[in-house]
Amino acid sequence: MIYDIKDINLAEGGKRRIAWAERDMPVLKQVRERFSKEQPFTGLKMSACLHVTCETANLVRTLQAGGAEIALCASNPLSTQDDVAASLVQDYQISVFAKKSEDRDTFFQHIKSAIAHNPQITMDDGADLISSIHKDNPEMCAQILGSMEETTTGVIRLRAMAKDGALKIPVVAVNDAKTKNLFDNRYGTGQSTLDGIIRATDMLIAGKNVVVAGYGWCGRGFANRARGMGAKVIITEIDPIKALEAAMDGFAVMPMRAAAKIGDLFCTLTGDIHVIDREHFALMKDGAIVCNSGHFDVEINKIALKEMASGVKQNVRNFVDEYIIDGKKIYLLAEGRLINLSAAEGHPASVMDMSFSTQVLAAEWVVKNKANLQPQVYDIPKEIEDYVSTVKLKSMGIAIDELTAEQQKYLQSWQEGT
Ligand code: ADE
Repeated sequence: MIYDIKDINLAEGGKRRIAWAERDMPVLKQVRERFSKEQPFTGLKMSACLHVTCETANLVRTLQAGGAEIALCASNPLSTQDDVAASLVQDYQISVFAKKSEDRDTFFQHIKSAIAHNPQITMDDGADLISSIHKDNPEMCAQILGSMEETTTGVIRLRAMAKDGALKIPVVAVNDAKTKNLFDNRYGTGQSTLDGIIRATDMLIAGKNVVVAGYGWCGRGFANRARGMGAKVIITEIDPIKALEAAMDGFAVMPMRAAAKIGDLFCTLTGDIHVIDREHFALMKDGAIVCNSGHFDVEINKIALKEMASGVKQNVRNFVDEYIIDGKKIYLLAEGRLINLSAAEGHPASVMDMSFSTQVLAAEWVVKNKANLQPQVYDIPKEIEDYVSTVKLKSMGIAIDELTAEQQKYLQSWQEGT
């Protein structure tokens, strides 16, 4: 078995953390038990480009239990948990290509290693694996039954590929499932982003002006959690409906140019480029802290920050770099990479349980439907979402009502009115 990880001796700690996460992933466990019996992936090779965390370890264990032979590479240079990577290699015989803080060349070399695994199924968080296959190994598209995409940014890229007629394989937009974005994007990002900011800075959130760029599910989640800790939260948006929603949710809404002058802490969660740009840095207060929780490190214009700063940046704490612009200090966290996976541990297992159960069931759906799939972006089938939410509720000890026959009939009729 081939692999490239930081240190195999870290495996023992990783194994314990994988088991700790498993306690909070009952839906995935149930699917794993079924996969062990039914073996839906027998003889299939899978390559996954995901954040290498203990939750992802439980995802790949589930695919392996279903008969798949797996290679795993990192979807971000800073998000790998090296102990988990070691345990996956040593205890689960999975080929892992990931090292925390790997440089750009190593990151892409690791993607190449995952491609060299020669997969029939792929999984992505950000679409780097699938876009590399399209660019560098297009002949491989013919053998790929389908690919799953975990995140908003990846789905945006894949829809752009489909629109250009460039997409050559079927992909499933796992991110767009309600069992994913309503929970992972909202509660997962909300909590883990604050966790990353606090671990990196140890700052008090109460009383701070916190500027949240983007009011999608991730922005909503983070804004609400920051408000819950006593911050005065300002939202910036480009979508009038989302901006209106933010205003009616009770947040201050204004352009970034106005928010730049008053923010103590800025966090971007948009999926877009240069949301915090040169003109905004120029307006910021002394001591402003800037970070990103979107997938790519392009939301904050780091190059502009570097160019505007006098002298070289100082690393004042782990994950905190100080830049000085006209005598004013600005702090960039985690080099503008996702703060929640760089400085903290990503979303808690309980929420990844739903996202990753949706992932593995989507993979099974691809295998079962391979004969009929076209190179396009598919939504998650409703049966998968219903299954995941039902089992999750049950695991939480929550029962809900069922429609009576009378209610079902009423909902299907149109004659009865006022
Ligand atoms: N994305 C966000 N949080 C994550 C986690 N804990 N594991 C894998 N991917 C993630």
